[in-house]
Amino acid sequence: MSTEKSKLTTSWGAPVGDNQNSMTAGSRGPTLIQDVHLLEKLAHFNRERVPERVVHAKGAGAHGYFEVTQDLTKYTKASLFAEVGKRTPLFVRFSTVAGENGSSDTVRDPRGFAVKFYTDEGNYDLVGNNTPVFFIRDAIKFPDFIHTQKRHPQTHLKNPNAVWDFWSLSPESLHQVTILMSDRGIPATLRHMHGFGSHTFKWVNAEGQAVWVKYHFKTEQGVQNLAPDVAAKLAADNPDYHTEDLFNAIDKGEFPVWKLCVQIMPLEDADTYRFDPFDVTKVWSQKDYPLIELGRMVLDRNPENYFAEVEQATFSPGTFVPGIEASPDKMLQGRLFAYGDAHRYRVGANHQALPINRPHSEVNTYQRDGQMRSDDNGGGSVYYEPNSLGGAAETSAYKTAPYEVSGAADSVAYDHHDHYTQAGDLYRLLSDEERIRLVQTIVGAMQPVESDAIKSRQIGHFYKADPEYGIRVAEGLGLPIPE
Ligand code: HEM
Repeated sequence: MSTEKSKLTTSWGAPVGDNQNSMTAGSRGPTLIQDVHLLEKLAHFNRERVPERVVHAKGAGAHGYFEVTQDLTKYTKASLFAEVGKRTPLFVRFSTVAGENGSSDTVRDPRGFAVKFYTDEGNYDLVGNNTPVFFIRDAIKFPDFIHTQKRHPQTHLKNPNAVWDFWSLSPESLHQVTILMSDRGIPATLRHMHGFGSHTFKWVNAEGQAVWVKYHFKTEQGVQNLAPDVAAKLAADNPDYHTEDLFNAIDKGEFPVWKLCVQIMPLEDADTYRFDPFDVTKVWSQKDYPLIELGRMVLDRNPENYFAEVEQATFSPGTFVPGIEASPDKMLQGRLFAYGDAHRYRVGANHQALPINRPHSEVNTYQRDGQMRSDDNGGGSVYYEPNSLGGAAETSAYKTAPYEVSGAADSVAYDHHDHYTQAGDLYRLLSDEERIRLVQTIVGAMQPVESDAIKSRQIGHFYKADPEYGIRVAEGLGLPIPE
């Protein structure tokens, strides 16, 4: 390596004469405003941060690839799944949900599991979590829900009263609360957890036939979790424990691998299935819709620059490619708006042109201008449509599949209200040791709640899921089972 130093320049490229001493009037005099290098240096520093993500602010990312291991082209024409052996580059970002950018990794929280596939027909983003379900099932409740997970407006402290008040008044959260409070609530590392697309999506094949699909990333490292006391010690001693583990594993060549499986539901089953298959608080039974292997995801390269790649990465559940479409899931529908809007605010209108977000396939749009346009902005090419100048034109073969809807436009509740069966099934699936730890964690989390009414309301939900579940939490809290 050459020891010869390159010439330091200003941001406008002029060689810098002195980068250690600002320009002053005499050796002890005040600083001169004509030291424009100093002014620029201080001003740029003030602008080093972009707003952190409003949720999922703390994260770690890695590059890798997806490889198809089984032909599912009878279900989808998505080109990234086109043939066995086909590889597609990707970027993954894992995250916690509630904490700020500098918060601890080893907290009890769902983990974000966002994957950007750079396919040959545009980017496909799968923006899921390490849990197959979510706390709520209508996007209209999301801002309120997240308020309860964040800090109190006066004390600036986390607020268990709000957390359990909201959950106890939103019993659809019970399934996800049970997962979160179980051993899986704190993964050992980001490599030792599964990932899920969580929502139901639509796949469309080359003949235009559609099916409903759910995605499961199965960790090949095995699921491992942290005991709460170990996690608490790590959170204090090494808040970046998960970030460090992922980076070091990849650095050492221990590339983490996930098998990607899907559940496929015939379109017509959605009308008759025993619950609404678009309800993100529910899992589909694997007896009804078994897992089908599709491929594997390997993470084999660390980012070169955290800000450029991880912080500026923008994932959106609405970033689809031909062959993959939205379902009518009310949460997913809200997310189709929320992410692009967040990206335009957080990173800017041209965020998709940044190297980490730029598709690896050709991009031909009539979008022009906007802040921080850093490519050639389309040069002198045709900039409107329709045109008679031979500009890029739509291809009707890529129209999304039609989907029949009916009914009145109205604010309508879900027509299925069983929040208890699947939460209870999960409880009954746990070993007795796991149930004891689950109840201990819940009791520990609910103890600081000031209102017995809130605690009793929540105990009622546990009881409805499984009487033993409710009785054990009630005993732990020293409260009776509510009528
Ligand atoms: C991040 C909104 C539900 C997974 C975000 C961000 C917003 C948001 C605004 C920040 C995006 C950014 O600044 O780049 C919402 C809304 C939801 C919702 C409105 C419900 C209507 C969900 C669900 C999941 C999820 C159900 C998982 C199944 C994620 C992940 C990230 C994220 C993984 C981080 C993406 C990254 O690494 O950049 N969400 N979210 N969200 N959300 Fe959601």
